[in-house]
Amino acid sequence: MTLAFDNLSTGSRVAGAMGLIELLKPSKMAAAAAPVAAAAPPLEDGKPLIDMRNVSKTFGNVKALQDLQVEIRPGELVTVVGPSGCGKSTLFNILAGLEEPDPGNVLRYRGQSSMASDLLGHVSFMPQRDLLLPWRNVIDNAILALEVEGMSRAQARKQALEMLPEFGLAGFENQYPNQLSGGMRQRVALMRTFLFKRDLMLLDEPFGALDALTRTMMQRWLLDVWQKHKRTVLFITHDVDEAIFLGDRVLVMTARPGRVKLEQVVELPRPRKPDIVTSPEFIALKKTLLEAIEEESMKSFMVAGH
Ligand SMILES: Nc1ncnc2c1ncn2[C@@H]1O[C@H](COP(=O)(O)OP(=O)(O)O)[C@@H](O)[C@H]1O
Ligand SMILES: [Mg+2]
Repeated sequence: MTLAFDNLSTGSRVAGAMGLIELLKPSKMAAAAAPVAAAAPPLEDGKPLIDMRNVSKTFGNVKALQDLQVEIRPGELVTVVGPSGCGKSTLFNILAGLEEPDPGNVLRYRGQSSMASDLLGHVSFMPQRDLLLPWRNVIDNAILALEVEGMSRAQARKQALEMLPEFGLAGFENQYPNQLSGGMRQRVALMRTFLFKRDLMLLDEPFGALDALTRTMMQRWLLDVWQKHKRTVLFITHDVDEAIFLGDRVLVMTARPGRVKLEQVVELPRPRKPDIVTSPEFIALKKTLLEAIEEESMKSFMVAGH
């Protein structure tokens, strides 16, 4: 299989591009075994897609995660909040198959005991930065993962073109990243993640860098797209309102070493209207979550020696 990266040597000089290439490796490796993504069989009702127990991760003398326990059921949108440095991205790297947890963990994928690396190619991952390649236009950025997976450029472009209107990008297919607004760039990166159809989508603070108004619009839009496509999503955010508005459940992580401090089910009806954020139910949830988060943020603030 030939890799369809243009200007790879230029890419290595562009901040973020190497990170992107790293991220695409898993799909490349999976492609060797299965060039076209096979639709995964449905799970029995109520069976988790991912079941993690006693998951710890140590980097040298830094314990990033300790005895983390997380279950993700098919079709769920689970949000994760926690102080910075508590291991959220580390959790994602494990689920994306890029890092192995410390020995002694239990990690089950579709009920089977697994190594993190077994998840390679089963998970699509949108990292914290949008990582668009500046020399590729919208459509060619969107199809990157499909191409690396071995799909022909023509076929991949066809699929992406069909998706453009839904992602608010109709007519922008030939624009380059520096010609787009922040919200549009994030939608291109999200479209790339959606096009790469996998069992689990990991979104690491996808709206973190956007202004408040754009962010609210993007949240509403993401809920629509998620409901339509019925994907399983794990979504990291710093924003409690965002975590509640989007999530079926919110996981609050402790200060480092990270574990799940609180698992809050969000029983707000769907589809969720924007004004749900002013409802008493929403406000009560927010109060509970903020208390849990503030306690942990304070701990990490003190540890950091401020
Ligand atoms: N590859 C790595 N090597 C060494 N330390 C790391 C590595 N990845 C993360 N860490 C450390 O693990 C801790 C958790 O990091 P991270 O998962 O990025 O936190 P978060 O995403 O919650 O901000 C931090 O102290 C970070 O410095
Ligand atoms: Mg992070």
